[in-house]
Amino acid sequence: MLVFPCSSEPSTTTMLSHQQQLRLLLSILVLLSPRLPVRSTPADIVQRFHDPEVKRMNHLVVDKNTGRVYVGAVNRLYQLSPDLSLVVKEVTGPKGDSTACSMIDCPRETPTRLVDNVNKALVIDYTTTRLISCGSLSQGTCRVRNLHNISDVVQEVKEAVVANNATASTVAFIAPGPPNPPVSQVMYVGVTFTGNSPYRSEVPAVSSRSLDKDRMLNIAEAAVTTGTRMYVNSLSRERYPINYVYGFSSGGFSYFMTTQMKNTDTAVFISKLVRVCHDDEHYYSYTEIPINCTNDGTYYNLVQAAYVGKAGSVLAGDLGITAQDDVLFAVFSESNSTNSDVPKNHSALCVYSLKAIRRKFMTNIQKCFSGEGHRGLEYISPSHKCILTVVVSKASSRRSLRASSFRTRLENRGLNQEKEKNPLEKLLDARLRWIYSRYFISSFSLTNFRDGKKGFASHEYGSMSFFATDTQVVSWRHKA
Ligand SMILES: *[C@@H]1O[C@H](CO)[C@@H](O)[C@H](O)[C@H]1NC(C)=O
Ligand SMILES: *[C@@H]1O[C@H](CO)[C@@H](O)[C@H](O)[C@H]1NC(C)=O
Ligand SMILES: *[C@@H]1O[C@H](CO)[C@@H](O)[C@H](O)[C@H]1NC(C)=O
Ligand SMILES: *[C@@H]1O[C@H](CO)[C@@H](O)[C@H](O)[C@H]1NC(C)=O
Ligand SMILES: *[C@@H]1O[C@H](CO)[C@@H](O)[C@H](O)[C@H]1NC(C)=O
Repeated sequence: MLVFPCSSEPSTTTMLSHQQQLRLLLSILVLLSPRLPVRSTPADIVQRFHDPEVKRMNHLVVDKNTGRVYVGAVNRLYQLSPDLSLVVKEVTGPKGDSTACSMIDCPRETPTRLVDNVNKALVIDYTTTRLISCGSLSQGTCRVRNLHNISDVVQEVKEAVVANNATASTVAFIAPGPPNPPVSQVMYVGVTFTGNSPYRSEVPAVSSRSLDKDRMLNIAEAAVTTGTRMYVNSLSRERYPINYVYGFSSGGFSYFMTTQMKNTDTAVFISKLVRVCHDDEHYYSYTEIPINCTNDGTYYNLVQAAYVGKAGSVLAGDLGITAQDDVLFAVFSESNSTNSDVPKNHSALCVYSLKAIRRKFMTNIQKCFSGEGHRGLEYISPSHKCILTVVVSKASSRRSLRASSFRTRLENRGLNQEKEKNPLEKLLDARLRWIYSRYFISSFSLTNFRDGKKGFASHEYGSMSFFATDTQVVSWRHKA
């Protein structure tokens, strides 16, 4: 498998060092006490929604056009009005299931038992005005629903898309992707590998999936050995779990925040940002960089939750960017002991400008092309030393292009026709200028992260904010 551009891991230079971090991006670091009170007092809360029979709520989305609120929970989906009154309740489980069952049916003799259906993905496709909901049953399949009435299932997709057990992670979001970004949109999905069924080896760790009616949730572009998908190789995937925490799109790329082991030999957990380029039909651009959040000598290694939004004027001033630039807010915790991925109660909030993140990716890629370090990603394909790569345009008489993957890429982009001094720079920079429609969430609230637990991003509609905990949804009017 060709893996381009590369992350030169595990040399420490690729970690954002403390100083680099400060210089590059760290602007605020707020230590959150384990019992930080909710920012809005109960008096500010306008409405609540709670269903005594719900075991746990997993996802919340708010339609930016209508203010309708959709909640994905264990065995339930809810459609609420903007004032949080119940409009439709859909029972999705428990149902007879077994990991031996396929996406389509269960072999006749297979013993099944009643299994909870845990909502793993809930996304609004604004292009077709549909709600896509995916649950853990039947190998993690999805349904496409009518936004006006979620009981109306427009399409059942018999494809394993999300995690198929109660706890394994899944992150899904819609962003531009092949065949024709930014016009065409795809669903980006990151899934933890579960080795509980033969069907799981077919489910990529990261993929872009089509939103065309006729190819709904199929891999957007698939060739024999490449396509818009990335698998963890079969030797590593059992012992190299990747936990997907958050996903977002910015400046021509899609990103996933993950926690994973430092490398395949060390059970020390770190956080990494995964990135693919929107117009990459082969995922040659799949790259990872470690992301570090430190304060006073404490290294908060495990990302718990994250959110991307606009900087706003105050923060922008601090970070040296414009108010319209994207920033990544991420809450991290320390491991409760070495070699553990269980977080301690305390957490820290780090803020990174996307500009700094892009620069970091670029530096790592350039370092690798100049022969420094290792490419890393040995759990995808064996790790190679970075090879000095000289890029010369085709128009030039000297053709020395040693990285075949890079050549493929350049030729695909037709950039070798241009007499650029540094095609690599050009290739990457061109993407940074693209501006895409944004994720519709526009608020970020510390209240999401009480107890350092993974929470839900809060959402805004008009003057209202919506926030979900495990068992209830609340709305409040935000102050000017
Ligand atoms: C993250 O930063 C801290 C503090 O500078 C450092 O001790 C730690 O080694 C860094 N983590 C990694 C994985 O480099
Ligand atoms: C939604 O659709 C179901 C099934 O067709 C129907 O029973 C229900 O009344 C509808 N609810 C609303 C609010 O339209
Ligand atoms: C789900 O799968 C993951 C990965 O194999 C495993 O670590 C976890 O324990 C499983 N959860 C349940 C509830 O079986
Ligand atoms: C870390 O968390 C695990 C699981 O909750 C627990 O069993 C273990 O005792 C904890 N270790 C420490 C040092 O707190
Ligand atoms: C973390 O919080 C939980 C629940 O709030 C509490 O039971 C536990 O003792 C706390 N652990 C530590 C190490 O403070």
